[in-house]
Amino acid sequence: MRELTGNCERDMKPSHSFSYRLNLDKNDIPRNWYNIIPDLPFRLDPPISPATKKPVTFEEMAAIFPAKLIEQEMTTERSIEIPEEVLEILSLYRPTPLVRARNLEKYLQTPARIYFKNESVSPAGSHKTNTAVPQAFYNSVAGIERLTTETGAGQWGSALSFACRKFGLGLRVFMVRASLEQKPYRAVFMRMFGAEVASSPSALTASGRAVLERNANTPGSLGIAISEAVEEAASRKDTNYALGSVLNHVLLHQTVIGLEAKKQMETAGERPDVIIGCHGGGSNFGGIAIPFMREMLDGKRIEFEAVEPASCPTLTRGSFEYDYGDQAGLTPILKMYTLGHSFVPPADHAGGLRYHGASPVVSALVKNGIAKARTVGQEEVFRAGLIFAETEGLVPAPESAHAIARVIRKAAELKEEGREGTILFSLSGHGLFDMSAYQAFLDGTINDRDIDPSSFGRGIESLAS
Ligand SMILES: Cc1ncc(COP(=O)(O)O)c(C=O)c1O
Repeated sequence: MRELTGNCERDMKPSHSFSYRLNLDKNDIPRNWYNIIPDLPFRLDPPISPATKKPVTFEEMAAIFPAKLIEQEMTTERSIEIPEEVLEILSLYRPTPLVRARNLEKYLQTPARIYFKNESVSPAGSHKTNTAVPQAFYNSVAGIERLTTETGAGQWGSALSFACRKFGLGLRVFMVRASLEQKPYRAVFMRMFGAEVASSPSALTASGRAVLERNANTPGSLGIAISEAVEEAASRKDTNYALGSVLNHVLLHQTVIGLEAKKQMETAGERPDVIIGCHGGGSNFGGIAIPFMREMLDGKRIEFEAVEPASCPTLTRGSFEYDYGDQAGLTPILKMYTLGHSFVPPADHAGGLRYHGASPVVSALVKNGIAKARTVGQEEVFRAGLIFAETEGLVPAPESAHAIARVIRKAAELKEEGREGTILFSLSGHGLFDMSAYQAFLDGTINDRDIDPSSFGRGIESLAS
């Protein structure tokens, strides 16, 4: 029996295989994070201070970050010990399962073996908890009383709310307006853990008010919400700022994903040929991919794919230059792929991927050909999300469904070529708060948009010289 639902023709015949999952023991949670920077065959350009236009100093960063995180941001050590207090909280949900998606393989009739690392089992429902916990910990031991942050999908705001509650910190979350309207219950989740949630742009900050004056109907963007959170943190001694992606220390914390996956793949007797992760600011993709990159740098063949929305094509259509991480120009200036800090992406249903910039590490990996970047359109993303929900029984976050869409294409390629291959991807989060997005898809109201490059903003290339 075949049925047409929304944009998606589906085979309704039930088909099942026994699931294969690999759970590690609690003692197998990694005790150290892996820093790829000393192993890279190139050097990263330094972050630049927006005030002096010179490389940013420790003291400047100390206005909004605790010393330990600044050290981690700048370190060239390969391995950094995870504090016991952090491990205790991570052990609520780590190690996360590695699952072979046998039912998806069967549905696709592909010779590919497909594995996913299930980060959706964290308290907030995504990988974001992996860095929220250490960030809250280091701030609390530094005597900070409250944090500010931005959130796009609501996943990062939820994760940090949970972590701040664990360490007795207050939190204000600037949630991108479009996302707040699409998923109001994410805000309720954050409030359950004691956070205050403001719709961004808000009247609470000068940068928010400036945007509202220019366009009262703006959907908001991660770039604007970051400006608001940084502005508030910089103006209060008791308050620091926490970023959910992009920066080196965030990627570092997320390497627990790939480190566990590596052990699990080895236990399964597998070696991935392709590793796929969706890309917003880069920490999810970096988290699953980076621990496997050492092998690639040693000459083994592995492909790495970062997947972004066609409506916010930072890595594929942005330029590699110095730019601000936020809209108002308050953050350090980073060498990265950027669509320009003034670019406001359309209010598509993948709030966590609507960011004009990207992690400097991931940007450099793409620039140097170590990782590839791909885009997918919304219709393909939601079709993939539905197929995954039906076959594997898990509703993926729209962000994660970007990776699944690429996995499905890759599996089809292997089928066409009659080749076997092992694909590993990160299921970065669940989509149980994303029902309005799935509803729009089932109702047939989700359309792909082609982005006009004239809407891209400008970076500030002149700083690089
Ligand atoms: C479920 C999910 N996956 C992926 C991402 C993108 O994360 P990153 O910024 O680490 O690339 C987000 C961001 O919010 C998310 O919520």
